[in-house]
Amino acid sequence: MSEQQNVEQSKRTSKIRYLCIESSCDDTSVAVLEGSHSDSKPRLLSLSVQSQDAVHENYGGIVPELASRAHLRNLIPCMEKALNEAGVSLEDLDFFSATAKPGLIGSLLIGHSAAKTLAFLYGKEFVACDHLESHLLSAFLENEVKLPSLSLLVSGGHTSLYLIRSMSEFEKLGVTRDDAAGEAFDKGAKLLGLGFPGGPQLEALAKKAVVGDLAFPPVSVEAFDFSFSGLKSELSRRVQSKKFKVSELAFGYQNAIVDHLMAKMKRALEENRDVQSICLVGGVARNKLLRERLDLLRESFGVDQLVCPRPELCTDNAAMIGVQAFVKWKQKDFAGLSSDVSSTSRPPLKRRKNAD
Ligand code: KG4
Ligand code: ZN
Repeated sequence: MSEQQNVEQSKRTSKIRYLCIESSCDDTSVAVLEGSHSDSKPRLLSLSVQSQDAVHENYGGIVPELASRAHLRNLIPCMEKALNEAGVSLEDLDFFSATAKPGLIGSLLIGHSAAKTLAFLYGKEFVACDHLESHLLSAFLENEVKLPSLSLLVSGGHTSLYLIRSMSEFEKLGVTRDDAAGEAFDKGAKLLGLGFPGGPQLEALAKKAVVGDLAFPPVSVEAFDFSFSGLKSELSRRVQSKKFKVSELAFGYQNAIVDHLMAKMKRALEENRDVQSICLVGGVARNKLLRERLDLLRESFGVDQLVCPRPELCTDNAAMIGVQAFVKWKQKDFAGLSSDVSSTSRPPLKRRKNAD
């Protein structure tokens, strides 16, 4: 091997380590990962997550200003924890990354400004990530996902269906027209007098039901889109009628949400016969009934793989940001220090010169 080839080889295999911050909504999270150009995905060295559930539970939903202030308090302790667990210090790191979109602006700004400042301070690159694409990539961190993959993203703020052809090609097939699936769980839980976040509590309550005929009317919405607001209204009517036990209502409502998701998945599988795997990501992917029903559907279509990340990687976390940051680092897709945040998935608006 020539000296030039030697240099190229060692460039491809030498490990880099980097730090990622997720602060788009109500969880503060920091992860340290490592990888090399010859790896297809990174290795997680540490992950620290500080939940804000206690901050928001009395309000039955996320209060944006409180979320931003909690990120401000939590970020440095989270970063210290992640660095200690990984056994690295800031000067050892090769680049910095954070979520840039979509999310609550005040929340995004905290993590994004911190990561950009670190990049500036240590003279390293800054990589800006998309929260939703990172959720999709969470499935790849600890699994060899077969492509193309049909991926259902179900979280508190988003519900959409994607066809993934590579770790940087995401085709959106459908999206919710009103509430997200997690929001449907949270709002349903509130109607049933449960706390926030409602998904896990509603799931636990549904297990206690001794069930008769509690079916909700099926949801009808075009193509691969979703809609959950009709189910929430039906639940509200049933709560007011006082004819049902809360556990029965939780059971029927959870089934109706899962039925709707399954109907769309079935249709997508019928129309995309080349799909090699199904991924289920986002906070609601922690729901056991949803995982079980999706696995039965997978089997009936003869699809090889159902990939659900472990629970900590389903809800918001910086490890998933680390997967997209790695893909972007390999592609030299750096954001630069003028990078901005955006509440939507669209790229930030271009500003006129001299505009503030
Ligand atoms: O992905 P995530 O942490 O936040 C967003 O990016 O939105 O998801 C949080 C959502 C909440 O709505 C929560 O109620 C829901 O995930 N969730 C569940 C379960 N665990 C969390 N929903 C249903 N069943 C669960 N076991
Ligand atoms: Zn999320």
